[in-house]
Amino acid sequence: MARPSPNINVMTAAARKAARDLVRDFGEVEQLQVSRKGPADFVSAADLRAEKTIFRELSKARPGYGFLMEESGQHADGDGRHRWIVDPLDGTTNFLHGVPHFAISIALEVDGEVVAGVVHQPVTDETYWAERGQGAHVNDRRLRVSSRAKLEDSLIGTGIPFKGETGHSHYLATLASISNRVSGVRRMGAAALDLAFVAAGRFDAFWEFDLKPWDIAAGILLVREAGGYVTTPGGDPNVLPSGDVLAANDRLHQPLAELLRSVPKTVDAAA
Ligand code: IPD
Ligand code: CA
Ligand code: CA
Repeated sequence: MARPSPNINVMTAAARKAARDLVRDFGEVEQLQVSRKGPADFVSAADLRAEKTIFRELSKARPGYGFLMEESGQHADGDGRHRWIVDPLDGTTNFLHGVPHFAISIALEVDGEVVAGVVHQPVTDETYWAERGQGAHVNDRRLRVSSRAKLEDSLIGTGIPFKGETGHSHYLATLASISNRVSGVRRMGAAALDLAFVAAGRFDAFWEFDLKPWDIAAGILLVREAGGYVTTPGGDPNVLPSGDVLAANDRLHQPLAELLRSVPKTVDAAA
């Protein structure tokens, strides 16, 4: 196993610290499910608390690095070269409903390129981590994408647009086209973990549209370092600007890209 670098150690320590609070808060959420007020406000507070913890820990360890964080946005005070890209709680809807599938995602970008990524799943205590050129790992085990070559044997992760987002009809057309050809499709609800699952060979591929940099920056590096391919469905390796993601093992990437491209871009009917 490659030894984790000092940066990975810093990222893992920050994620684990925030994870301790999230796990405690998750226990509370399960109680709040039955209360009349419901857990929504409590969950937003948990989310913010996790982001503050990660901000504090990373700033302490690497003063001068900038931040792009889901809750507080872009921080303008970085050195212009280093930037942390952070989702303090990916899988909020799962968390809110007491479903134990959520993660913390932290990526480090240097001069516009993601060089290190950590996706930590608190409930299973799995830390997925990758560094450019050093491979991908979960805890101390090396990861490799699956070797499945046939669409009909493959298990594919995806994400469905939320209420209020555009692109429902186009997405449903891609779902129809892919689900008709593969062994199974899963909507697990945490994009960072979907990508980690592709890196781990649990999923053979994953697609979703319009994701944000904090959902995918760390996960994309995981997949690439595990030997997989990540592009937009159109084949552009620069995925962060559009957030349209197709991640797959080396054999299934091309057939899935062709399937996605064959679906015309329909416009949603007015609600
Ligand atoms: C969401 C999750 C979900 C994906 C959404 C994301 P959040 O992130 O990753 O799987 O489908 O597009 O916004 O809101 O739970 O951090
Ligand atoms: Ca997210
Ligand atoms: Ca989030």
